[in-house]
Amino acid sequence: MKSILCVENVTKKFGGVAAVNKCSFDVTQGTITALIGPNGAGKTTLFNIISGIQPLDEGRMVFQSEDITGSATHEIARKGISRTFQLTRLFKNLTIKQNLLVAKEVSDVVLKKMLVSFGVKKSLSTKCTDLSYGQQRLVELARALLFPHSFLMLDEPTAGVNPFVREQLKKIIRCAAKNGTTVLLIEHDMDFVMSLSDHVIVLNEGCVLAQGTPAVIKKNRRVLEVYLGK
Ligand SMILES: Nc1ncnc2c1ncn2[C@@H]1O[C@H](COP(=O)(O)OP(=O)(O)OP(=O)(O)O)[C@@H](O)[C@H]1O
Ligand SMILES: [Mg+2]
Repeated sequence: MKSILCVENVTKKFGGVAAVNKCSFDVTQGTITALIGPNGAGKTTLFNIISGIQPLDEGRMVFQSEDITGSATHEIARKGISRTFQLTRLFKNLTIKQNLLVAKEVSDVVLKKMLVSFGVKKSLSTKCTDLSYGQQRLVELARALLFPHSFLMLDEPTAGVNPFVREQLKKIIRCAAKNGTTVLLIEHDMDFVMSLSDHVIVLNEGCVLAQGTPAVIKKNRRVLEVYLGK
């Protein structure tokens, strides 16, 4: 199994506190990997480091055999890493269509089809300020999917979306993986994680606490203690 992303000993401190602490893991090409862990475990910080938004203090990252440590956000994006944000980052004063065309030049028909499959019943000319929070998240996901990529990072894709759309998201993510995209997702919805992922990495206080298949993680005592509160 080939690793597409290798995170080696990554540390990120805010003030004196390590949000990410000597964290190491590999993401296997073509898989759906979930990054789970309690609030404040360092998941989003890791995403920001991988996508070049925040610099790391120590460690190294290798993507498709290339060292990307210290590379600028646009360079990392150009290598094929696309992502969404926990707090959406759409251009709020632009329309849905304008936001999506930032990622890729495609026809209105394609864009409309995508919105319909996401359950967003809005015209392409709707300004993103006029969308609900859930709708904004879905448009951002559409944008991440349109951006040319081989690696897709999703920060809490199901947050604020209804159960029907959640099932749609599962299908969309599965379909992306089937077509060769490697997916790394942060998620608190355990049913979603366990039914979708090939591999689960559990982060706690900035460190990898455990990793394995969903079946193995579900039974891990330490994971149950720190994360599921059982
Ligand atoms: N810019 C920042 N400045 C200072 N501290 C930060 C900053 N960003 C994150 N932190 C701290 O780093 C730790 C990890 O935060 P992070 O957002 O990565 O957690 P998370 O695992 O994504 O949590 P959640 O599940 O709640 O989204 C937290 O203690 C947080 O307060
Ligand atoms: Mg987070």
